[in-house]
Amino acid sequence: MSDKPTRPALVNVQTEDSCASFEWQWTQQTVLDSKSTLYRKLFESRGVWYDHYDGKIVADVGSGMGRLTWALAELTRAREIISVELSPMSVAKQRTYITDPRVKFLQADLAIVKFKADVIHAAGVIQHTRDPFVTLSNLIDNLTEGGELFISFYLRTMATQMLQPLRLVLSRLPKRMLWSLTPLLAPLFMVRWAGRESGYKTAMHTAYDWFGSHEFQYYFTDRQIRRLFNQCGIHPHNVIQIAKGLYKVRKGVFPIMLEEELRAF
Ligand SMILES: C[S@@+](CC[C@H](N)C(=O)[O-])C[C@H]1O[C@@H](n2cnc3c(N)ncnc32)[C@H](O)[C@@H]1O
Repeated sequence: MSDKPTRPALVNVQTEDSCASFEWQWTQQTVLDSKSTLYRKLFESRGVWYDHYDGKIVADVGSGMGRLTWALAELTRAREIISVELSPMSVAKQRTYITDPRVKFLQADLAIVKFKADVIHAAGVIQHTRDPFVTLSNLIDNLTEGGELFISFYLRTMATQMLQPLRLVLSRLPKRMLWSLTPLLAPLFMVRWAGRESGYKTAMHTAYDWFGSHEFQYYFTDRQIRRLFNQCGIHPHNVIQIAKGLYKVRKGVFPIMLEEELRAF
């Protein structure tokens, strides 16, 4: 028998190349956001108060150029902030401007990275991972008991399916060429208020996110999302949909017995 240690096959991890289009976007193009829109993203739109993160370990995963990590450092009294991102150059960019000593940077794949956090934000990432189920299970594993995950999904709707043929064409374009088309594509993502609130430049980024050449892009129905949570061991009453495609999930037991029996009051 060989003395060589056997390493488990890393079948669920993805190459850094699978995110090269994001890396280009986050390192070559600027993103415009204000503290007030970032406050809305981390607090108001998640239904939590200004002191929600006090003393907690909070993670921002699939953190891109790090705007949410930066906002967590600026706007919260979290004990520790963990930024996890696959692209080494995006992590390097974050390190240039996020200097708060509470922030730890991990260049890692979400399918296998290990940490412990009380709150995890997974904004705009799960649909771009090789195996969303494996990624989600690992994220939930990384939560402390009673910890919560805020997670957004691309939805499978008539509108998103109608955009698919366009994506098949646009995702083949060189990055720079696709970026030059984003001023034309941005209005598609400003139909909803959530798309308009951060302005035109951010909508250009959303368009690039949607049509870029990254390797993985999945779409989900609400039923599929709830099934995924269930398969990861989350009780259905520990899942709250806070907006279309945006969910808040709590790890741990749900201790109340809810009977269907009708009572007269
Ligand atoms: C659409 S961007 C979202 C960036 C950020 N959350 C934001 O809202 O500004 C998705 C990011 O997830 C990263 N990513 C994709 N798959 C990943 C994985 N398996 N592990 C870690 N990061 C990943 C990409 O490199 C990219 O920066």
